[in-house]
Amino acid sequence: MCGIVGIASRNNCVNDIVSGLNSLEYRGYDSCGITALNGDAFIHKKSIRKISHLEKEIVKDKIKGNMVIGHTRWATHGKPSLTNCHPFIKDNCALVHNGIIENFEELSNHYSLNSKNITSETDSEVIAEIFNKLLNKYNNPIEAIRDLSNKIVGTFSLGFLVRGSDSIYATRKGSPLVLGLSDAFNSISSDLLGLPDETKEIIFLEENDIATINKSSISIYDIEGNEVKREMHEFVPKKDFKVRGDFKHFMEKEIFHQPISIEDTILNFADKKNSSIFFPENEIDFSNVSNLILVACGTAYHSCMIAKYWLEQLTGIPTSIDIGSEYRYRKDKPVNNSIGIVVSQSGETMDTLECLKKFKQHNIFTISIVNVLSSSIARMSDYILPTVAGPEIGVASTKAFTSQLAVLALLALHIKKNNMENIDYAKDTIFQSLFKIHQTMRRILNNSKKFEEVAHSLRDAKSIFYIGRGPMYPLALEGALKLKEITYKHCEGYAAGELKHGPLALIEEDIPVIVLAPYDENFLKILSNIQEIKARNGKIILISDTKGVDKAKKYCDQTIVLPNTNFVTSAILYSLPVQLIAYYLAVLLGTDVDQPRNLAKSVTVE
Ligand code: AGP
Repeated sequence: MCGIVGIASRNNCVNDIVSGLNSLEYRGYDSCGITALNGDAFIHKKSIRKISHLEKEIVKDKIKGNMVIGHTRWATHGKPSLTNCHPFIKDNCALVHNGIIENFEELSNHYSLNSKNITSETDSEVIAEIFNKLLNKYNNPIEAIRDLSNKIVGTFSLGFLVRGSDSIYATRKGSPLVLGLSDAFNSISSDLLGLPDETKEIIFLEENDIATINKSSISIYDIEGNEVKREMHEFVPKKDFKVRGDFKHFMEKEIFHQPISIEDTILNFADKKNSSIFFPENEIDFSNVSNLILVACGTAYHSCMIAKYWLEQLTGIPTSIDIGSEYRYRKDKPVNNSIGIVVSQSGETMDTLECLKKFKQHNIFTISIVNVLSSSIARMSDYILPTVAGPEIGVASTKAFTSQLAVLALLALHIKKNNMENIDYAKDTIFQSLFKIHQTMRRILNNSKKFEEVAHSLRDAKSIFYIGRGPMYPLALEGALKLKEITYKHCEGYAAGELKHGPLALIEEDIPVIVLAPYDENFLKILSNIQEIKARNGKIILISDTKGVDKAKKYCDQTIVLPNTNFVTSAILYSLPVQLIAYYLAVLLGTDVDQPRNLAKSVTVE
């Protein structure tokens, strides 16, 4: 999908526009351009090469401006060319557009547009030309946008400069737009990642909202022209992620950041009111995809294991998963129409990168889910779905993991929508539950004391078990990994149903077994596993919901009640206990929580 950035500032903001366009490179583009409104003049520069070339041209021509819009174009109507490149400039306005105008030909005929006023092959220029006329008609940009929006059939997010105005205007329908607020400037972007780093707060515009931003204020109107208020969200600048602040460790800060990072990740791609998922435009026809192959390492691999349950259940597409260090040497032959998906926080993990190369050698389409957009994996993959978690400093991955789960859940729901058109997202409980999950996470984190108590009870354990079924099984592996990597204690994660096939022999007096078990279709089976363990004097720590704890507490030494979940939100919410138990035990044991021995944040060697 194209990318939009716009800034109205007290100072020259051309560099911030270019930096915003660079952050949107991941969306794919074939041309780019900016327009500045200096006094009454539209100054513009375009390029059908990379943004770095556009930047050189801007420096060469010394283009500056306090009111600037920029665009990266992924060609839909008309080939990549300077003529088809945004912004489009008319007498009264400059315009950038994301989306597809379905009725652009009817509109062009209605306004008798011709080669005198339309020089490009695009649907976007038709809109620019009509907006230009409506500005003459109404002499009021908000009224002109309202009329324009009502004429358009299709999807759009639009940014406008208007000659004689000190504001940038924006509106959206079926394509995301976010406002960035700060002391010295206000901004718009099609994507959180395009906003300047000094942004303080953000507003996700709702369907048909019309926004005006200038250097010191913003206003939002609904389609009837009534001024409205929209929810403000905190925006954490990248530089803040690199300081611990009031936290003892980066890992603690990143665990407690998750309500924000998960909401940013979800809202960057999904709209509750409009019940839509906006992934960057792509040529994937999921109804033709024969097989999904997910590959990653460590914690990222655990997110793939969890996603396998979701993808198979929600999309019906056969889904295989593997760890990077194994898959890269496997002699498999990915079938045609497979899609290779790699997941990586750093985007530099060598084993995962080599799997990406292997996918490309087999000519299969590659998707990367990464937290670092400038990384090797991001740059090499055909399509990127970023986790909007902010830089993760602690070696033990936490917020990146839950954001990976959020993206994978949205991917499963997105494919489900593509393959089964009759999905009414407005009523789809799983889709809607993702919009509340940040509040539930906050509630769990506000009661973290009980996880500290569990950690204390594990202090002298010589070995610890995690068990789970369904999506809780990979989470049991993740819980065990967290404990191993930062407390240095031995810990096994196991599928609960596997205990009787061997590991039960390890259970004896006071071996603690942490059971991850929401009251779902697996619960009664895992209850018998609990009884198997109890019969051998194992120590049971059950993490469940009210119903599960009521059912099993007589067999348990400790229980923790979490809010009710569904088979998607359970994996995200139950991540918090496994992260916190490991964190508090590591603090108690005095290990180096953020830089545990023998480990690196990114494993760039084989
Ligand atoms: C997780 O806590 C570990 N730090 C490690 O397993 C990590 O997940 C793995 O090395 C993969 O890293 P990546 O996500 O950057 O590819």
